[in-house]
Amino acid sequence: MSKKLLLKNAHIEGIRYFETYRKHGGYEAAEKALKMKPEEILEEVKTSGLRGRGGAGFPTGMKWSFLAKPEGVPRHLVVNADESEPGTFKDRYLMEFLPHLLIEGMLISSYTLGSNTSYIYIRGEYSWIPDILEEAIEEAKAAGFLGKNILGTGFDLEIYVQRGAGAYICGEETALLESLEGRRGNPRLKPPFPAVKGLWERPTVVNNVESIAAVVPIIEIGGAEYAKIGVGRSTGTKLISACGNINKPGVYEIDMTITVEEFIYSDEYCGGIPNGKKLKACIPGGSSVPIVPANLLLKTINGEPRYMNYESLADGGFATGTMMGSGGFIVLDEDQCVVNHTMTLARFYNHESCGQCTPCREGTGWMYKILKKIEKGEGKMEDIDLLWDIQRKIEGNTICPLGDAAAWPVAAAIRHFRDEFEWHVNNPELSQTQNYGIANY
Ligand code: NAI
Ligand code: SF4
Repeated sequence: MSKKLLLKNAHIEGIRYFETYRKHGGYEAAEKALKMKPEEILEEVKTSGLRGRGGAGFPTGMKWSFLAKPEGVPRHLVVNADESEPGTFKDRYLMEFLPHLLIEGMLISSYTLGSNTSYIYIRGEYSWIPDILEEAIEEAKAAGFLGKNILGTGFDLEIYVQRGAGAYICGEETALLESLEGRRGNPRLKPPFPAVKGLWERPTVVNNVESIAAVVPIIEIGGAEYAKIGVGRSTGTKLISACGNINKPGVYEIDMTITVEEFIYSDEYCGGIPNGKKLKACIPGGSSVPIVPANLLLKTINGEPRYMNYESLADGGFATGTMMGSGGFIVLDEDQCVVNHTMTLARFYNHESCGQCTPCREGTGWMYKILKKIEKGEGKMEDIDLLWDIQRKIEGNTICPLGDAAAWPVAAAIRHFRDEFEWHVNNPELSQTQNYGIANY
């Protein structure tokens, strides 16, 4: 049984509202934190080992300690709620059912960072959630947990919710800041990192929703206790949104010590694959991370069980491993066609590229066109090599990670499922009417 920290009260009716949230211990961590010095809270977060839950896994305490503090210049906390990574919907769950957990986490984090004006930038398609968040903000304000002189400490905090307009690229932190400033969401070159030059050129910390929510249990139980949960550098709990060919899609909180096999097959989590089908592959961290075939998903190259944590999922590098990413866990059964799946992703990245850099703007389009050709049975063997060549020319040559995110799924699909690409080339007529999975199992 996994330990629950974030979702422990998610089942309680009315937990979305201040009164119920408060009755179940809500804002007690904030009360405790506001009696501490900001440096003490920062130490707790560092000790906890919390890593950014948006996808990159960068240590949160370290990011906070990088925040520049020039005299007289305001600082900001911006919560990245632009959750758009295909397969990822865990932040939506948190904001919809536990908005006060996020607000409480923001209060503690803003106090620590010295931000008096903090923002939630939320994905435009989550159209019903801003109202939930704004209602929670009003409730917290009425109870004295937001606004002026919070709990008599002299600390002031206003939180604003900003809706995005549906562009995936605005989840990249600097594109998000551009959009928040009212411009087109084009990523900026880094460095300077937002911690030094962020919103309106002021020092800014951009953190994912789940990372900020996790600050609440860290203060509740202490950083050292939090660090005891999990394993190695994968401390605490992690939310996983599971989807695809599984019996029980949904959002699960895991403590990162369970195996991938247990996560897929146990009734506590995904409940296995429907209709007794075999597991073919999985993309465990949102669409940007490499796909792994079943044999490498359940066991590492050394035959060790693979675990649901940052290190184990990455074991072996991209040749045999993958990444924890955003925790968007997509399962493919034996009937699925990897070429078709990869083509769908390529179309997505091509559509979402902001167009600033040539390798991404042109390369994503080329990859989509070639994949479409191969999938329709109109490709040649050389096209597979051309596809490989294009993805290599994108990776590492762009301003932001969208280029890499578009290249990695293509590279992993060719690396692990080349036979499927070749089947489409060798079976032009069949591939127009059937997908590889159904035709071959
Ligand atoms: P990154 O590794 O460049 O940066 C991680 C964070 O650490 C950033 O906030 C960055 O500002 C900070 N940082 C790194 N080095 C720093 C330094 N020297 N000084 C100050 N701050 C520093 O990764 P990035 O671009 O923020 O995120 C990429 C990840 O986002 C990918 O792994 C992908 O999985 C994930 N992603 C998640 C989505 C979602 O819906 N949750 C959507 C798309 C991508
Ligand atoms: Fe835009 Fe793609 Fe370049 Fe990112 S990599 S800045 S999305 S063109």
